[in-house]
Amino acid sequence: MADLPKAKVAVLVSGTGTNMAALLYASRLPGAPYEVVLVASNDQTAGALKLASAEGVPTFALSHKGMDRADHDAAMDTAIRDAGADYVALAGYMRILGDGIVGKWAGRMINIHPSLLPLYPGLKTHARAIEAGDSQAGTSVHLVIPELDSGEVLGQVAVAIQPDDTPETLAERVKLAEHQLYPRILGEYVSRGYDADHLHSQVAELALALPETEERTSHGAPAFKIAGKSGKFFAHFSDRHHGVQHIALLAKTSGQDELLQLIERDPDTFFKPAYYGASGWVGIILNRADCDWDQVAHWLERSWACVAPKRLTRLRKAAAEF
Ligand code: GRF
Repeated sequence: MADLPKAKVAVLVSGTGTNMAALLYASRLPGAPYEVVLVASNDQTAGALKLASAEGVPTFALSHKGMDRADHDAAMDTAIRDAGADYVALAGYMRILGDGIVGKWAGRMINIHPSLLPLYPGLKTHARAIEAGDSQAGTSVHLVIPELDSGEVLGQVAVAIQPDDTPETLAERVKLAEHQLYPRILGEYVSRGYDADHLHSQVAELALALPETEERTSHGAPAFKIAGKSGKFFAHFSDRHHGVQHIALLAKTSGQDELLQLIERDPDTFFKPAYYGASGWVGIILNRADCDWDQVAHWLERSWACVAPKRLTRLRKAAAEF
């Protein structure tokens, strides 16, 4: 299979940047799914900036001192966008980001935190774990949401606490774990748009949210139908079938005319699937950088409405108009 396009990641730092270094060097291994396009900091003296420059990575620094939080966030955001980043990875960025920038990057901003979240959000995590007599500390990579250290956890590693550990010795060992965890989780996260299991679960979630639907296998592949014995199929999930590279959703169109129009208008999204195409089903390509999930949801709903009993479509229409 051809190499996937690399996701572009901006890393935000305030300190030494050992996690930034781990992310950067992992990105330089063959087949890495992302590249670091910017290292940005709120502290011009951050060691991470020096390292990034030496490695030929563009840097940006702007002290937050004397600046409004929103203005500082906006300047960081502009630098990140100018660098062409698709994702932001926080790696010891010691500024709390405001809701504005966090909202803009929802689902595309991740952070590493030195505890087994939900334990010990905030600062002094190691001292708190030792103080509590915990047998293990650890680290978590999570999505960033407005509430501090509370977004969905994407991955964790536990680190045993030794009897003679101080917060400093423990912090050092936790960092070894962080350097393994962060590149792996970031890599998986930016690749999920090309991962069949992830795409299948996204489609399933949308399809099964429609009234009275169920998932069944059809010709050996996952498919979605109206529930019950006589319920018809309204969507098929196709994972690189018949020699095509696409992972796709197959949905019903009104017929060949519409199918051909769709493909002509947007050949990066639509294609005529083998066998099903002859009956007016369209393939909607899911494994691409900018898959539009609203569009996928729209096609699922349309396809569902084509085969759902009147009783269900009437109810849904009434609910939508309500
Ligand atoms: C790491 O322990 C990370 O979990 C926390 O800040 C620290 C940054 O360390 N958010 P470094 O600058 O990457 O060495």
